[in-house]
Amino acid sequence: MSQSQETLSNLLQETRRFAPPAELAESANVKAEAYDEASEDRLGFWARQADRLTWSKRWDEVLDWSNPPFAKWFVGGELNVAYNCVDRHVEAGRGAKIAFHWEGEPGDTRTLTYADLQREVGKAANALLELGIRKGDRVAIYLPMIPELPISMLACARIGATHSVVFGGFSADALRTRIDDAQAKLVITADGGYRRGKPSALKPTVDEAVAQTPTVENVLVVRRTGEEVAENERDVWWQDVVERQSEEHTAEPMDSEHPLYILYTSGTTGKPKGILHTTGGYLTQIAYTHHAVFDLKPEKDVYWCSADIGWVTGHSYIVYGPLANGATSVMYEGTPDTPHQGRWWELIQKYKVSIFYTAPTAIRTFMKWGDDIPARFDLSSLRVLGSVGEPINPEAYVWYREHIGGGKAPVVDTWWQTETGGIMISPLPGVTAGKPGAAMRPLPGIVADVVDDQGNAVPDGGGGFLVVKEPWPSMLRTIWGDDERYVKTYWSRFDGLYFAGDGAKKDDDGDLWLLGRVDDVMLVSGHNISTTEVESALVSHPKVAEAAVVGATDPLTGQAIVAFVIPRGSAGDVEGADFLKELRDHVARTLGPIAKPRQIMIVPELPKTRSGKIMRRLLRDVAENRSIGDVTTLADSTVMDLISEKLPSAK
Ligand code: WT7
Repeated sequence: MSQSQETLSNLLQETRRFAPPAELAESANVKAEAYDEASEDRLGFWARQADRLTWSKRWDEVLDWSNPPFAKWFVGGELNVAYNCVDRHVEAGRGAKIAFHWEGEPGDTRTLTYADLQREVGKAANALLELGIRKGDRVAIYLPMIPELPISMLACARIGATHSVVFGGFSADALRTRIDDAQAKLVITADGGYRRGKPSALKPTVDEAVAQTPTVENVLVVRRTGEEVAENERDVWWQDVVERQSEEHTAEPMDSEHPLYILYTSGTTGKPKGILHTTGGYLTQIAYTHHAVFDLKPEKDVYWCSADIGWVTGHSYIVYGPLANGATSVMYEGTPDTPHQGRWWELIQKYKVSIFYTAPTAIRTFMKWGDDIPARFDLSSLRVLGSVGEPINPEAYVWYREHIGGGKAPVVDTWWQTETGGIMISPLPGVTAGKPGAAMRPLPGIVADVVDDQGNAVPDGGGGFLVVKEPWPSMLRTIWGDDERYVKTYWSRFDGLYFAGDGAKKDDDGDLWLLGRVDDVMLVSGHNISTTEVESALVSHPKVAEAAVVGATDPLTGQAIVAFVIPRGSAGDVEGADFLKELRDHVARTLGPIAKPRQIMIVPELPKTRSGKIMRRLLRDVAENRSIGDVTTLADSTVMDLISEKLPSAK
């Protein structure tokens, strides 16, 4: 993406603004002064945020950046993450406060107070010790969204074992690669979990994976579905080993840089990268951002992040951030349409959720299902809405605000990555006048910018590469076992800058708009056009629920824009040529004639990864009439068949 910054900035004329509600602005946890305070003394600012935590030993130095890009935060400090997330709340007399309202997909529920959590985590920590797990060992966790998942993570943190959570939808092969890379000694799993109304087995996948992993000594199995499973010699049942343990366990202080967890990012090519996060800096930024971005008032709010804990969003904003802040959260096991398409809204109504955090892919799915579904539920408890995972299309933002947020709850579009550990760029709900589709500004204490090819900051109105210019507390420390790859992947494109792989533009006010991965930018007749902007233009048509756009080789224009569109449930007749013309004209009107798609295909589904990102690579295969490439990382491997059926030309 080297050329024409001006094209990007001319696209997308979004003028709507949403100021924070007066009441929220007045009582906000973080006010506008925070930006100045942080920029005057960034390290002092982060040191004050670290004081949100309870340290067993204070740090000597806030940041050691003497060997970039290898950072050490709160050097010499000691603390225990599980103590900070659980015990200290109990010690402060808040043991009876609910940590999790857990809801299983079949409708079974469990309520865990902070005191319950302390007992459960204590038992699990003692069980890990009995199984021979020691500080520094790695534990792989392959569990459904049940309470034993956060309990296992906290038990590891408590004894200093480094966890590696592997998303329950991954295959045996993916699990095995991750176990081997981390040399895990133990795998924690379950017989299965519930998905789409039925039990979905996990244990057979683990059996297949560990048959070839020499480092695994035991497999600790939670009984969740009660389905029959094969029992192998190294298997032990959670219900036997954990349940009989003592609830007493004293959390051991860890060095601030002790490895807390490894989380693998799939990466489109090459072997997965084990992103390493450590202790003090990580928890500091996660606790601060959860407090600032969601305006969490732990005594009043009920918070729900709908992500899976298998992704970083769940690590940081279901487990570590909310618990460090003493929040009450909802945790849900299953899918949003089981047993009906209003399940999420029913949960919000039932638990009076006030802060809700989800992904654009989910929002667009709800738009597709129809406005009448959320309208049947009382969502008036909601006061802050978050979005994460991809750029949020302005139309999806406005729909979310209107139909879920009752036209009053601010939407915070939070940009970050597995690698950044926590939120980096986001509005502050009590400060920022939000623009639909913009992540707006780096948070206080974060220094990020948009640069050109040469690494020079672009002026307001320009576009280019998003970079982070100064180290931040929850940054990845390395790629597990591969320092060289860490340097090469993130720190070599621009001298001294962290390059995240995303394109962005700065509008005339200097606010940031994310444009997706730079690999997804198209070059049409010499103009750089981002897939995100064309998708947003399509989604702004009242009959469109979702759109994915790719650049296909074109003899005339270099690349031509090909769009795949899912109509809204209420759209009516969408088969005819008139509708396609209407859409093409709509894009031309919104963005300019250069952005008009050469071709639009109406499809029933889009190919997505398990974390909800559109796999444009596969759509490019369709657009260029190639046979379709590797589909193994698709969330639903039948989607490409559905698409091909609709399009006789695509094999
Ligand atoms: C990539 C990171 C952060 C947790 C979930 C994803 C994209 C993420 C946004 C946003 C535009 C976004 C970026 C980023 N992304 N949030 N608010 N606006 N793009 O974590 O799997 O590591 O993916 O997701 O492209 O680089 P991840």
